[in-house]
Amino acid sequence: MNILVTGASGQLGSEIKELSLNYTGSKFFFEDSKGLDITNAAFVDDYIEKNKINGVINCAGYTAVDKAEEALEEAKKVNIFGVENLVNSIKSRGGKLIHISTDYVFNGESFLPYKEEDNIAPLGVYGSTKRRGEEIVESSSIEAIVIRTSWVYSAYGNNFVKTMMKLGNERESLGVIYDQIGTPTYARDLAKVCLHIISLDRKIDRDSKIYHFSNEGVASWYDFAKAIMEFGNISCSVTPIESKDYKTLAKRPHYSVLNKQKIKNDFNIEVPYWRDSLKKCILNINKEK
Ligand SMILES: NC(=O)c1ccc[n+]([C@@H]2O[C@H](COP(=O)([O-])OP(=O)(O)OC[C@H]3O[C@@H](n4cnc5c(N)ncnc54)[C@H](OP(=O)(O)O)[C@@H]3O)[C@@H](O)[C@H]2O)c1
Repeated sequence: MNILVTGASGQLGSEIKELSLNYTGSKFFFEDSKGLDITNAAFVDDYIEKNKINGVINCAGYTAVDKAEEALEEAKKVNIFGVENLVNSIKSRGGKLIHISTDYVFNGESFLPYKEEDNIAPLGVYGSTKRRGEEIVESSSIEAIVIRTSWVYSAYGNNFVKTMMKLGNERESLGVIYDQIGTPTYARDLAKVCLHIISLDRKIDRDSKIYHFSNEGVASWYDFAKAIMEFGNISCSVTPIESKDYKTLAKRPHYSVLNKQKIKNDFNIEVPYWRDSLKKCILNINKEK
């Protein structure tokens, strides 16, 4: 296959790039927004045609959740029209698409892990634009799936793990929210899943194109921060605070744990426990220092 990975400079794109070295059967094309701006329809079409692309993993996204509240048009361009451009281009020549979406399509009022078919009610611009992107993939006739994920971190890019490690080394104590519950996801684990699915010989979509993937288990941001200090050997003390005492522009769901049974069944996937994956990522971050 000729596989295009968009958003290749981001956390997930970078992990796929590293792992792709072991995928000798396919040729990979990695592009960030400078190499391939997915909001430019003609450019996308031309790129896909010229390079005979027959698989796309769309890791590109407008991912700044708070900034999006004041940048609706920018978020729409990438999260909606960018996805539409990829879908249209694939539609005219065939090929598979894996598109990445988010737990922020839910309002967080559930108390049970969200299933793919549960009610959608995004709380902000990021979640609602990502939902429109999902709908474009869902309603298309192309062979495609959408993977919703949550709380992504990696040794690449900026994320909660790296911020906590930096602040933890600078300060004696930190307050971290304990009333938002979800599951951290090591981008490398999601990267493995994307590569596994895109490389399958069989058709990848079934009756519904939506799938959930995060690491296994449940945590609050407070629990996540405590584990980061533990595995990073950082002596900073972490205290629990409420969301109301940490104001952000965008509202976040209080609960966004994802049920992963469908992806496990359909693609025969084993999901690592979040603390085990976090330990591995911190080892990688420390190795690179
Ligand atoms: N991070 C999370 O916690 C999280 C949670 C749930 C779901 N997700 C979803 O997972 C996917 C990957 O997330 P991530 O954390 O890897 O994102 P990230 O680190 O923020 O990277 C985003 C990537 O998108 C690219 N991009 C932005 N605008 C673009 C455009 N117009 N054309 C082409 N590329 C563009 C960026 O390129 P430049 O660097 O060149 O701008 C960057 O490579 C996204 O769809 C995101 O919505 C993320």
